[in-house]
Amino acid sequence: MIEVEHLQKVYTTKGNLLTRSQVHAVRDVSFRIPDGGAISFIGESGCGKTTVGRILAGLETPSAGVVRLDGADIHQTPTRERRDLRRKIQLIHQDPYQALNPAHSIEQALSAPLQIMAKQKSGSPRAWIRERMDEVLTMVGLEPASVLYKHPHMLSGGQRQRIVIARALTVEPTVLVADEAVSMIDVSLRLGVLHLLRDLREKLRISLLFITHDVAAARYLGQGGQISVIYKGLIMEQGLTEVVIAHPRHPYTQALLSAVPVLKGLETMGADRFILAKEMNAQSDAQAGCLFADRCPFAQARCFTEAPALIGEDHQYACHFPEVRQVAAVAAE
Ligand SMILES: Nc1ncnc2c1ncn2[C@@H]1O[C@H](COP(=O)(O)OP(=O)(O)OP(=O)(O)O)[C@@H](O)[C@H]1O
Ligand SMILES: [Mg+2]
Repeated sequence: MIEVEHLQKVYTTKGNLLTRSQVHAVRDVSFRIPDGGAISFIGESGCGKTTVGRILAGLETPSAGVVRLDGADIHQTPTRERRDLRRKIQLIHQDPYQALNPAHSIEQALSAPLQIMAKQKSGSPRAWIRERMDEVLTMVGLEPASVLYKHPHMLSGGQRQRIVIARALTVEPTVLVADEAVSMIDVSLRLGVLHLLRDLREKLRISLLFITHDVAAARYLGQGGQISVIYKGLIMEQGLTEVVIAHPRHPYTQALLSAVPVLKGLETMGADRFILAKEMNAQSDAQAGCLFADRCPFAQARCFTEAPALIGEDHQYACHFPEVRQVAAVAAE
């Protein structure tokens, strides 16, 4: 089980004393994922999704807050044990091309992380590595003999992403962080990779943090899991995926959902469509009150002076006026 409590990350941009500024990439994010569970993060570009993923994978240290894996703080444990802990949380990069060295064959890409583990196993390391490579390739739906000798450019985008997932699986992780893992592959291949991630969750009991712009993908992968809607590093709404999507309470969630294309003719009749007033404005960060107030079509005076707390038990939202509003989806052209 992975638990994240009050995570914060502040970056200080480069420059001198006058030009330097602070970026609050993550302000306050808490969630937990049980073994075999899933959480999806949705939110506009720059809201801090990748930063949370990188903190979980141990690539960044939080400015405040804790990440616990089975009770152990992954950023505070002694170096040796930390390496083992971090191995258990693997990040899947959105661009499989960038994640794989073009000069290395798939066999080289997969065997590298296995070399170290092979030393701790009894018997022939070469035979063990070969066996383990076959095992992870089969898990991701690839035929070992037909891909091992190939180089990344000889594979399709979907196959490359499967190789990246296979490589993450070699070290037997318990948590996968998939950051826009399907956004760069062809639409026709996406569903296959989504299927695979869902299968791994169910069969290997791997916990999944799925970061996406795509509400439909979050809905598919997050079945029975949670969804977190993030805005400027803060959770606006969080709860069971099906519940949040069916009954969004926060105007920001309602706006995100209303931007999801559906087939023409299937738009919800008589419902409102939300169009967000303007692009996110970094200056408004300094404002008192709700960070979303300057774009919210329902904001009232109180929203500009008092920050709403995240309230609720299973279904949480940070809004002073969390009304149920019928959301219409945009018709796809
Ligand atoms: N190393 C860094 N130094 C300074 N600022 C950073 C750094 N990394 C991220 N940021 C800033 O932190 C904020 C959150 O970035 P992050 O990459 O987590 O967003 P995101 O939600 O993943 O966006 P996207 O959907 O575009 O991938 C952004 O304003 C970004 O510019
Ligand atoms: Mg990102």
